[in-house]
Amino acid sequence: MKQRVLFAAVLLTATTLSACGDKKEATRAVSFANDVQPLLNAYCLECHKPGGPGLEASGLSLESYDNLMKGTKFGPIITPGSSLSSTLVTLVEGRADKSLKMPHGERKPLAPEAIKLIRDWIDQGANKN
Ligand code: HEC
Repeated sequence: MKQRVLFAAVLLTATTLSACGDKKEATRAVSFANDVQPLLNAYCLECHKPGGPGLEASGLSLESYDNLMKGTKFGPIITPGSSLSSTLVTLVEGRADKSLKMPHGERKPLAPEAIKLIRDWIDQGANKN
């Protein structure tokens, strides 16, 4: 009997937690420093820093907000307010030519939640926040 009560409590907690999670995912304010830069660090930085093949080939450094906003040697990859027309999003979603999808090569693509964070951040104005 005691066990059953415990089980119910666990279930209830789990559903409450996941309900909160969904709500949070809706559209919370995304922070560059807390949400976006850590993703860049994990998925991109090893190649897009001084000496890395990505920076050498494209001119794109992903070490900081200012570097990201400067873009590649061809220009910006972010259009503040429009994730749809931002090259960065096209690349991480794999909508560009296969040879150009990022992360480069056979790397694992970003998780959908990670891409959503980046998209929301751009749609919210790509702020230095
Ligand atoms: C394994 C190394 C590697 C990783 C990891 C990597 N890149 Fe790259 N990136 C490259 C290379 C190499 C190029 C140059 C591609 C070329 O010119 O063929 C490049 C080019 C680019 C470009 C310019 C594309 C263009 O239009 O010329 C962008 C934007 C970019 N990377 C973004 C990212 C992002 C965002 C991530 C993380 C999600 C990432 N990269 C992860 C190696 C990498």
